Amino acid sequence: MKGTISTDQELSYGALLDRVKKLELDKQKLEQENNSQYRIIVNLERKMAKLDEVTQQRDWLLDEMTKKISDLSRFRTDLFRAERLSTIGEMSARLAHDMRNPLAIIKNTIELVKLKHSSKIPNDLMNMFRVIDNASSRIVFQLDEVLNFVRSSPLECDEYSLSEILDSAICKIVVPDQIHIHLPQNDVILFCDTEKIEAVFTNLLMNAVQAMENSGEITVRFSQIDDVVTFEVEDSGPGIQKNLLDKIFEPLFTTKSRGTGLGLPTVKTIIQQHRGTIRVTNKPTVFSVFIPKKLEA
Ligand SMILES: Nc1ncnc2c1ncn2[C@@H]1O[C@H](COP(=O)(O)OP(=O)(O)O)[C@@H](O)[C@H]1O
Ligand SMILES: [Mg+2]
Repeated sequence: MKGTISTDQELSYGALLDRVKKLELDKQKLEQENNSQYRIIVNLERKMAKLDEVTQQRDWLLDEMTKKISDLSRFRTDLFRAERLSTIGEMSARLAHDMRNPLAIIKNTIELVKLKHSSKIPNDLMNMFRVIDNASSRIVFQLDEVLNFVRSSPLECDEYSLSEILDSAICKIVVPDQIHIHLPQNDVILFCDTEKIEAVFTNLLMNAVQAMENSGEITVRFSQIDDVVTFEVEDSGPGIQKNLLDKIFEPLFTTKSRGTGLGLPTVKTIIQQHRGTIRVTNKPTVFSVFIPKKLEA
């Protein structure tokens, strides 16, 4: 009959509805699964990002570890070298100290012979005595450089006149006739270790003399600005090569065949002990030392 649905048709509609419901349930299930898989993927991505981070950290740590291991092996080599140097230093100090006495005996004996037999000594022998005297002075100077460098005694300070210290330093060095030293007209009082500052002057002056070989001018200047005392030693020598300016304060660095390379390092240590600084400029060569006037300040 038209307009009605047969039982067969009703059945198939019912079956269709069931299927639709089932499909919807399946769809919901799939969506749920999809969601949970999406969450797992997001989680995995987060974990991957973390893994990347951890891997980067691990690489950085490995880098750091490699650096530290190479630092450590360098420290070990440095330590080994420092230990050896300190043993060599002690040995040279002892040797230098022991050699000073026989040298003093040689020098004194020559002086005695010259005094006792002055009228009877022929000129050529006198010249030979001078050669021996100069050679022994040079050895004494080099031994003193080694001793000054190796012995790092504490400062014994008081107030001293820089001019007096400079005079006494000049007395200890041999200055060729053609080299003129222009002394400062003023004086400055400095709270310092007089023997050590004298060693500073001796070293700077000797270097200036040696740089000029036979003739030239050396100018020493003193000044005081506020609480800082400055002294400068300038020479008219050939100057220091630009690429060597950084090296000249390193222990054992020398460009001289008979140099020790210990003069400027000793000077630097002494200035640092006085809480001061030293600077060098070229053309003309000027070594400038700055020391606070009162160490206590
Ligand atoms: N006044 C100067 N003029 C030119 N070069 C200098 C001067 N003073 C120092 N130097 C350089 O610095 C080096 C190191 O000096 P120093 O430590 O006193 O050792 P040394 O005098 O035994 O060589 C010298 O060998 C020289 O090359
Ligand atoms: Mg020197």
